[in-house]
Amino acid sequence: MHRFLQTITLRSRIILVYVIILGLGGLITSFFGAIITNKTIMSQAEMKVLHDLRTANMVYTEKLKSIKKAMKIGASANMMADALKNGDKTELNKIAHQIAGIVDIDFLSVTDSNGRVKYRMYAGAAIGDDVANVSTVNSALKGNTAAATEIFSAEMLHNENPVLDKQARILLKDEITENDSVSAAALTSGMVLVAASPIYADDGSLSGVLYGGNLLNNDFSIVDQVWELAYKGEKFNDEEIGAVTLFYGDLLISSNIKSADSARVVGARISPEIFHTVREKKMPLALHSKLLSERYISEFQPICNFSGEVIGMLHVGALEKAYVSMRNAVMGTFMTVAVIGFFLIIFISYLITRTITRPLSEMVDVTNRVAAGDLDYVIKIKSKDEIGQLAYSFNRMIASLKKMRRELEEWGNTLEQKVKHRTEELAAMQRTLMQSQRLASLGKLAAGIAHEINNPLGGILVLSSLVMEDLPDSDPHRENLEEVIKQTMRCRDIVKGLLQFSRQEQGKTEYVNVNEVLNNTLALIEKQALFHNIKVKKNFQEDLPFILGDNSQLQQVFMNVILNAVQAMEEVGDLTLTTFRDKKDDLVVIEITDTGCGIPEDLIDRIFDPFFTTKEVGEGTGLGLAIAYGIITRHNGRMSVKSKVGEGTTFTIKIPVAEKVKVADENE
Ligand SMILES: Nc1ncnc2c1ncn2[C@@H]1O[C@H](COP(=O)(O)OP(=O)(O)O)[C@@H](O)[C@H]1O
Ligand SMILES: [Mg+2]
Repeated sequence: MHRFLQTITLRSRIILVYVIILGLGGLITSFFGAIITNKTIMSQAEMKVLHDLRTANMVYTEKLKSIKKAMKIGASANMMADALKNGDKTELNKIAHQIAGIVDIDFLSVTDSNGRVKYRMYAGAAIGDDVANVSTVNSALKGNTAAATEIFSAEMLHNENPVLDKQARILLKDEITENDSVSAAALTSGMVLVAASPIYADDGSLSGVLYGGNLLNNDFSIVDQVWELAYKGEKFNDEEIGAVTLFYGDLLISSNIKSADSARVVGARISPEIFHTVREKKMPLALHSKLLSERYISEFQPICNFSGEVIGMLHVGALEKAYVSMRNAVMGTFMTVAVIGFFLIIFISYLITRTITRPLSEMVDVTNRVAAGDLDYVIKIKSKDEIGQLAYSFNRMIASLKKMRRELEEWGNTLEQKVKHRTEELAAMQRTLMQSQRLASLGKLAAGIAHEINNPLGGILVLSSLVMEDLPDSDPHRENLEEVIKQTMRCRDIVKGLLQFSRQEQGKTEYVNVNEVLNNTLALIEKQALFHNIKVKKNFQEDLPFILGDNSQLQQVFMNVILNAVQAMEEVGDLTLTTFRDKKDDLVVIEITDTGCGIPEDLIDRIFDPFFTTKEVGEGTGLGLAIAYGIITRHNGRMSVKSKVGEGTTFTIKIPVAEKVKVADENE
């Protein structure tokens, strides 16, 4: 379950919670609702049926009472005793018809004081039989007016009224079983309402009994009256809801229920247990019972004979399915409302959860984009709840991420530039280092050679000069000897240059103003012809600090560089001299720039090498820059070159500012 919950979306989970709660609530409500609805409707129906039973009982009792009253009136009529005594049939008939006018009766008879029938209203011939065994008649013979429901045999019925035994015949609808309380004979006997009243002579002695009554078999007046009072017009799907029936034992002898051909339904049996129960308890019985093919919410009222035995039942019932359908309709409405409510709430919860989950999924969306590196997104959530706050801090997080990334990028860029710059610097330094190492070893070699050659050269020059002095002017070898001396002197100059390049010892150390040295150098050569078409520009820093060094050696350096520049420009162009103080490293910087031919890249590393020259033999020795390099190195300085073929060349010389100047500057 837990696993499952983790796999479904938040929204589904919330809705699931709703569904579970509502489903459970709905189920419980429906369960109890059904029980309560059922109970309420059914108990209402049962109460109504009980009430109807009372009505039915009243109608039944009233009928019996009215017969009793009529018998009492008839028995006490003025002429009654005399007519009986005299056997005056005309008079008896007159009285009988008067009684029949008061109450509806099926038979009416008069007996003598022994219970022998003297007169019968509906069967004039059949008289003389003894009816003292009829309980009510028996009671009347003892002087008491009595009324009760009794069983009359077919013969008795026939005696009373020749049509009654036919009316009493009930065709049994079901098989007769052993359990049946009503025997086969009951088919012909009848259940009658009978009342009897004593007739007294003028002297007060009992002269006979008047009795009469109604046959209940196939008589529908009672059930119809009850039905009209209780159920008239109540129908369910064209079926009568109310059933009012009279039972003789468990056999139906009168009913308002009609069959399909509109005939009254009689002869059916009710479950024998019901009759047994009613007979045992002698109390009304309420239950749901099956009568014919239908089930009824029923009440059974016991009908007792004169001696108090239960001989039949008065029954009212309401069609159970009418109430079941009513209950079902109520429950159906209830369920429909519940189901509609359920789905309505699900729908509403769906909408509500959307307001929760939509911003969340939007956030997930943006998170994914952000995770993929797209930081240009913000969440557009304006709610002020927790989600709104989350969105706000999320947006802030994105903003700071963005800022950090920009900084990182910038940092990366500058780092790249710095690395590039440093790499270039390193390469340059390495180049100068290699050059200076190379030049240093070259210097040692040159110095060694120069020393070795210098002495023999001196000897050659001295000896050849002496030989020259001794030679007469006309000597033919004189010219050759002069050439020897000239070449030897040239060799001596080269050796001198080599020694200058490699000389280890310091020159003079004095405070030198570089601007001044440059001006002096220019003054020496400016007047020469090769300078005529050269435009000289001076960018001197006025308060340039002193350096420590040798004035004439520096002049030699500048002279060399300037002459090279002029030669490179082929005597036409701009020569720019710049001086300034590099405060950072505390150096005096001298830049000498020309607009000459420039130096090809493959040669630039070699220009400081001794004897490197691009000039014609005799024009350049290739020692000029080598000597300059040596001098600047001995001044603790550095010399470098930058050149572009066709545009020009710049020589840069950097010499440290004199210590004293530095100290003075620092004290300022
Ligand atoms: N300003 C310059 N412009 C172009 N090439 C130059 C410049 N200065 C020096 N050079 C090159 O450096 C070489 C070496 O110069 P240097 O040592 O003075 O010897 P030299 O002048 O006797 O040739 C020159 O032959 C020339 O090729
Ligand atoms: Mg030169």
